[in-house]
Amino acid sequence: MDRLKGKVALISGGARGQGAAEARLFVGEGAKVVIGDVLDDQCRKTADDINSRLGAKSAVARHLDVTRAADWRAAVDVCEREFGGLDILVNNAGIANLKGVEETSEEEWDSVVNINQKGVWLGMKYAVPAMRKRGGGSIINISSILGLVGSPRNTAYHGTKGAVRLLTKSAAVQYAPDKIRVNSIHPGFIFTPMLDVVTREELQPLLEATPLKRGAEPEEVGWCAVFLASDEASFVTGSELVVDGGYTAQ
Ligand SMILES: NC(=O)c1ccc[n+]([C@@H]2O[C@H](COP(=O)([O-])OP(=O)(O)OC[C@H]3O[C@@H](n4cnc5c(N)ncnc54)[C@H](O)[C@@H]3O)[C@@H](O)[C@H]2O)c1
Repeated sequence: MDRLKGKVALISGGARGQGAAEARLFVGEGAKVVIGDVLDDQCRKTADDINSRLGAKSAVARHLDVTRAADWRAAVDVCEREFGGLDILVNNAGIANLKGVEETSEEEWDSVVNINQKGVWLGMKYAVPAMRKRGGGSIINISSILGLVGSPRNTAYHGTKGAVRLLTKSAAVQYAPDKIRVNSIHPGFIFTPMLDVVTREELQPLLEATPLKRGAEPEEVGWCAVFLASDEASFVTGSELVVDGGYTAQ
């Protein structure tokens, strides 16, 4: 129950879905958590729910648009002011876009790149100095199986999730001397609001093509994040943890 005891985490996109599951599991393992999202009401509800179930003032909600440097600076400040520092960053916020090369508009491209790719870089940029003060840390960047293999559409999403994979490895090498570990997680099909963009008819063949013949609950990714955040993963950096029921193994 104490795998993250004494640690402070900042989770982007933590109002719902995988980020919210991670926030719950992290607090359950003894961490303090700042949850950042653009969905302010939902973010507050998630933090209130965690605090009422798992202990007063273990979670704080904070408005965070991951495309804005000022928001990141303020979120890191909240971690230091409320909980005394920052040890773990989960760059989880992301948006989907199903369109192919020709169908994607410039506005859509920029929006996906800004949130899924620039947001990850900004998060690392502002978290690293705070982690250095603590003598190290763990950064977990949420990519996707679509950052590993191609598909007939999802152009901007593929581009950004592939970029997150190598941003992660480059940061892992850069910050190893600071004892900051940086890893990526590559989820397969996870039952969160993000999957609402595909119809049941579109989803079913993808689940059938998954060797375990199902999608996953957000907690099944969340436990992997707990591992990477904890000292159990002390020699794990620059790695890509695939959580896809075997989808990319075939
Ligand atoms: N659900 C899946 O099948 C799946 C598969 C692979 C990877 N992923 C990735 O997992 C991560 C979490 O997604 P999820 O499945 O929980 O979906 P979700 O849509 O439930 O959660 C994404 C969260 O990101 C937030 N967000 C969006 N734009 C933001 C911004 N500019 N600033 C801050 N927050 C913002 C949303 O408000 C939402 O709370 C994403 O990076 C996603 O790309 C999801």
